[in-house]
Order: sequence, then C-alpha cells, then structure tokens
Amino acid sequence: MDVRKLREDFPLLSKGIIYLDSAATSLKPRQVVEAMREYYEDYTENVHRGLSRLARRATEEYEGAREQVAKLIGARPEDLAFTPGTTASINMVAQGLSWKEGDVVVATLMEHHSNLLPWMRLGELRGVRLKLVGIDEEGRLDLRSLEEALGPRTRLLAISHASNVTGVVNDVRRAARAAHDAGALVLVDGAQSVPHMPVDVEALGADFVAFSAHKMLGPTGIGALYVSERARAELAPGWLGGGIVREVSVDGYRLLDFPYSMEPGTPNIAGAIGFGAAARYLRGIGMESVLEHERSMVRLALRELEGIEGLRILGPRSGDRLGIFSLELKGLGPDELAARLDEEFGIVVRSGYHCAQPLHERLGSRGTARASLYLYNTEEEVRALADALRRISRELRGSIALI
Ligand code: ALA
Repeated sequence: MDVRKLREDFPLLSKGIIYLDSAATSLKPRQVVEAMREYYEDYTENVHRGLSRLARRATEEYEGAREQVAKLIGARPEDLAFTPGTTASINMVAQGLSWKEGDVVVATLMEHHSNLLPWMRLGELRGVRLKLVGIDEEGRLDLRSLEEALGPRTRLLAISHASNVTGVVNDVRRAARAAHDAGALVLVDGAQSVPHMPVDVEALGADFVAFSAHKMLGPTGIGALYVSERARAELAPGWLGGGIVREVSVDGYRLLDFPYSMEPGTPNIAGAIGFGAAARYLRGIGMESVLEHERSMVRLALRELEGIEGLRILGPRSGDRLGIFSLELKGLGPDELAARLDEEFGIVVRSGYHCAQPLHERLGSRGTARASLYLYNTEEEVRALADALRRISRELRGSIALI
C-alpha cells in the first residue's frame, strides 16, 4: 500500500491540514465523488421501476454497489440492505424484531449511544430489559461477565466490534458463539471495524451487522444492514411504502423478500453508488493492507504519546486495538485542546464524549479530545500530533509552575 500515492486521491489533504478525525467521518477520494457525479450528470433515474435505458443503468449501478459492499464483508448481495447509516440499521433491528415483556438485550458499557438508546427505548415501550456488561480500567470487555450475562431470556446480544473511544477490538466471534448457545441473536455494530480491518460476517457468526459508508471513504446518509439467512424471517420492516411489495390489493399486501423489503421509497441512489465506489476502492487496496498500516501507526502513536507530561490516553497500550486515541491533557479541557490543535497546528480532531458517555464515565473521564487515524495518515502526521501535544503540555506546565 503506497500511502503517498493514495493521498493524491484525497483533495482535502493538500489543503494544509492534518486530518485525524476519521472515526467521526473519513475523507472521500475523488473516485467516490466522481461515481456520484456520474450518476447525477449521466444517468439520473429511479431504480427498480422504469425500463428506460437510463433506469436500467441506474438499477444496474445501484445493485452493483450492493455487490461491492457485500463482497467487502464476505456477504452476498441478497444479505445486505442499504440503510441511512449505522444508527438507522440498529434502530431497524430494534423496531423490526418482535419483543415480549421480560426479553433481555445484553449490550456492553463501551457502546456508542446508537447501540444503547434503541434498547433503552424498548425497555420503556415493551418492557425489554437491558443488561450492560462491564469493562476494565483499560476499556476492555470482560468476556466472562458477558457469557454470564447471557441467559434463557436473552433475545439479542448487541455489541460493538470496535470502540469509537478506545479503539478496543472485541472478540465478537467468541461473544457471538456464547450468545447463540444461549439462543440469542447477535447484532454487531461494525461502524468502526468494517472501515479498518478485514471483516467476514460468516466467520464472525453475526446475525446483524450495521455500518456506515461515511466512515469508510463513502458519502454520508447511507449505510448497510447485513442480515444472516436464519435471522431474516425474524426481522420485519419498520417502514412500509412503494418499491417493497409484490402485490397490493384493498385487502392487503405481500412484501418482496429481504433486502428489498427493507428499502421502501426511493433510496439514496447516489449515496449507494458512492458507497459501492468506496468499497471498490478499499477492496482494491486490500483490507489486510489497510489494517497493517493502521497497526504500524498505532505502535508509533503509542510510543510517541507515551511520556508526554500530563497526557492520559484512554484505552489499552497493547493488544487488539485500532488507531483511535482519546486524550486528556491535565490543565486543559477537551474542547480547548481540540481548538488549540486545530488553530495553532492545523490538526483536526474531535472533542467531547463521542456519543459514548457511559464509557467515559466508567473510565473516570469528563470528555476527551480524540485523534483517529485512517489509511491516508502518515508517520509524519502522527509525530506532528505528538509534537503539538508536547508543546502545549510544556506551555501548560510552565504556566502552572509560574503560579
Ligand atoms: N460516531 C461517530 C464518532 O464516534 C460520529 O465520532
């Protein structure tokens, strides 16, 4: 993987910034923007409806995109519905399964709010109980506790594959096995893992995998929901409308099969085509190479950040973790730290709870500035972050010493 070369595909990288906020949203290469421009300029039409040449081309490109995205996760196109994103995908599962009072959803304390609030809401509306499995001081999941939390009333295990705060990668395969043994379904929040590492849904053993295009070089407003064959019969569409029915009479309707049953109305056609181009781009590089690059950046970042006075990195120093570094710098709040990195050093990071407040609270944090890496980041950029933090830290220590 030639990082220097692929950086040329990302126009924003030549504008004098260091982009370290890919966990929030990734940059988009020209190829993705071009694929979407082509749809809008050369063959705009609706999909699955008309028979004109334009309509046929639009449908072919839309379904071709589904194939590209499915291939990236080792799935078949018929296993994958386009959705507005990870949040929508998870909510579709929450609304689409049938629930009984007393059913249990097991999730973890490291979940993003998008994988917590839909289950909390089920508690309010349907009497479903949410059990949250704990994590240790480094943010790692306790798999034993997870296995113990599963029981005969567990309907679903909802678990993130990788944390958007600590970068921790969970052993989802083992968790899924335990959940299936308990008779539960398994939903994996793949928002942070699918963009960064090889993911094979069959090997994971997941029933549902939710992820978003915009964190993996694609556009915003589009994502996917993978559904395993055996879980498909249990999932009903939450929204109904045109484009998802075989036949309708005044007495009723018969829906199309999954995935079309989950895509009512005119879909985000350009978004799907951009998503397909992003998946093709990533497959062209190879997810093994993407992960290898990220791992080497992680090792470098941990070495560089270690020892900066007053700096705390949430999450583990070793083991399976991605390039996400949520940072606290003693004497400066996370928003101020992010603002200084941006304004004084041109380094873009995100600050706050990153939609994971329970996780921050468990780790004793009132918010962090988060730097997150992707395939276009370089060693120089990681060193620039460390240098900037070192300088800010020295200044702070200097001013503290003066007082
Ligand atoms: N979920 C995205 C993040 O973690 C927005 O920043």
